[in-house]
Amino acid sequence: MSAGREDWLAGAGAPLRGEIVVPGDKSVSHRAIMLAALAEGSSRITGFLEGEDTRATAAIFQRLGVGIEADGAERIVRGVGLHGLRAASGPLDCGNAGTGMRLLAGLLAGQRFASELVGDASLSRRPMGRVIEPLRRMGASIESAPGGLPPLRIHTNNSLQAIDFETPVASAQVKSAVLLASLYASGETFVREPHPTRDYTERMLAAFGWPIAFGPGWARLGGGHRLRATDVDVPADFSSAAFFLVAASVVPGSDLRLRRIGMNPRRTGLLAALRLMGADISEEAAGEQGGEPVADLRVRHARLRGIAVPEALVPDMIDEFPALFAAAALAEGRTVVSGAAELRVKESDRIAVMAAGLRALGARIAETPDGAVIEGGRLTGGEADSQGDHRIAMSLAIAGQCAAGEVRIGDCANVATSFPGFLALAQSVGFGLRPAQAIV
Ligand code: S3P
Repeated sequence: MSAGREDWLAGAGAPLRGEIVVPGDKSVSHRAIMLAALAEGSSRITGFLEGEDTRATAAIFQRLGVGIEADGAERIVRGVGLHGLRAASGPLDCGNAGTGMRLLAGLLAGQRFASELVGDASLSRRPMGRVIEPLRRMGASIESAPGGLPPLRIHTNNSLQAIDFETPVASAQVKSAVLLASLYASGETFVREPHPTRDYTERMLAAFGWPIAFGPGWARLGGGHRLRATDVDVPADFSSAAFFLVAASVVPGSDLRLRRIGMNPRRTGLLAALRLMGADISEEAAGEQGGEPVADLRVRHARLRGIAVPEALVPDMIDEFPALFAAAALAEGRTVVSGAAELRVKESDRIAVMAAGLRALGARIAETPDGAVIEGGRLTGGEADSQGDHRIAMSLAIAGQCAAGEVRIGDCANVATSFPGFLALAQSVGFGLRPAQAIV
């Protein structure tokens, strides 16, 4: 979705110090727009992530007839009620956002109008069969490109049926697509997961007044109720904090404080993994924001050791593996990642792209079908390509802080999908990082 190619140059900077606030949570921001749009009345969303992914979702709802006003870092959403969306002319562009497309597929499956969902080159390669299959079982009529790929053509349907469904992979997006379709279905839907995933859809449905029962790994709800407008205060995104947690751990002399980070236990697996590696991260001022646990995180440099990442942590840190790979490449000893085959169908094949990137910087790393074996040590520097994957670009920037030579990171513009302002924020705490174009 981002225009133009942008490369970065990373190199040893200063110890990372100071106190920072990272942008709002991406998962919560997507869901807040969606539920506020379907609610009756106006909702105010504070701390909304001004990233390309979440702005694409907001733009889609505007095209579906929802009034959304930006007021600084806030959004006022004038909800149209469950049946108030209107058909848009032409395709709805989800940009780079898998969350946007999969959740919208569920939400649009039960509308009395047809829609088409499209995405950028990366999203157009991502599997949608995982949401199409259960939605078809509910009675939806959805066509995709061959292999279950986008674009998705969703036909008119006003007779969805509830299902009893066990998600084949631990995926909050699949679970959420089914839950959102269930708002329009007759009967009671029951969704179970092989391992509990982030429960923001469930929590937010409850906050908007929809009767729902849920616990770790399951949710049950019936159709035919109403959503009532409510204000949402979005916590800071743990996944954005993750890059700073790793960077301050590996750069000697660092002592960094991250303010008011969302600490939903289904998101904080990296914290546990880093602590097993010997990281020095403390939680302070624990509290609550918008119904979510939050805390300040203080991270100080520590010598990291390689570990076998417990497979039970994988779903709770599914977006953090690029950062974990960077930590592992700089740790002492071997790190083994397994049970993480889902990484191959993210914004890029994150196992292959991180392995290629770190290898180009001098790391010893072997891919396995569902993970990698990483020998920690020293990085030399060189050129690595992020393949347009935002989290890989930021993770290679961390690696660059500890490389002996300069690191050139290719194709970084998509960092704006989840973390606008990363470069300036990173520079402000001491990162050696700048756009390649700025060099004369
Ligand atoms: C998300 C769920 C996860 C995660 C993604 C956001 C969500 O995807 O990787 O960044 O907001 O529901 P999967 O459902 O594919 O695991």
